[in-house]
Amino acid sequence: MGEVWVVGSLNIDLVARVECFPRPGETLRGHDLHRRPGGKGANQAVAVTGNGGRARIIGCVGDDEAGVAYRNGLAQRGVSTSGVRTQSGTATGHAVIIVDDKGENSIVVIPGANAMLSFTDLERLQPVPGDVVMLQLETPIDVVSAAIVKGKASGATVVLNLSPFHVIAAELLRECDLIIVNEAENAQLEAAGLRHASVVVTLGGGGARWGLLRAAYPAARVIDTTGAGDAFAGALAAAIAVG
Ligand code: RIB
Repeated sequence: MGEVWVVGSLNIDLVARVECFPRPGETLRGHDLHRRPGGKGANQAVAVTGNGGRARIIGCVGDDEAGVAYRNGLAQRGVSTSGVRTQSGTATGHAVIIVDDKGENSIVVIPGANAMLSFTDLERLQPVPGDVVMLQLETPIDVVSAAIVKGKASGATVVLNLSPFHVIAAELLRECDLIIVNEAENAQLEAAGLRHASVVVTLGGGGARWGLLRAAYPAARVIDTTGAGDAFAGALAAAIAVG
């Protein structure tokens, strides 16, 4: 069984529940507040181990209490954190998330230490054929680009979750074996004139499609869609790594 190497973000999510989203300038009373681990990279790594895969994460946290707690939490979930660097004098990344009663969310990310991920950190990325290298775009794009090239050169399967959407070079996209986007990101991909032979589009409650294949798994009740795409991406990477 191969390993999944996740190069990506680690955030602390501050999640407020509201009945409906506030309008600009409006103050609303929420009905719940949670602080929990998040970040697309870490969410995906946890989804890998939660679905029977082996995960390692390459990322960066701050030298604050949140960074220490995060590293321990990932280790408890079976994710190897030897690739997580602590950046001194920097806060761990945070995300402020509002979730309405329909389960939809809006997210503001403050990158913090995630923005400090560097080329040097990629020295700890050592995939072999049969492994999966999984990336998203919440860490510096030039570092993600280098990880794609290194992952491809190693013979690993390179999976890019193009989220949050950012235009990347067509040659770089071609180095990836699989692209995962939601419907909005897919529209942005097409609007940018970018094509790829293997794109999985997640469809929210409608499941996901890959070319002409479509899989749906009806949700009984939507509670919170935050990280749903990450859970799917991590589960898919785990499935590829186990063959
Ligand atoms: O995809 C959901 C994630 O996006 C949240 O956990 C938040 O941290 C942001 O990175």
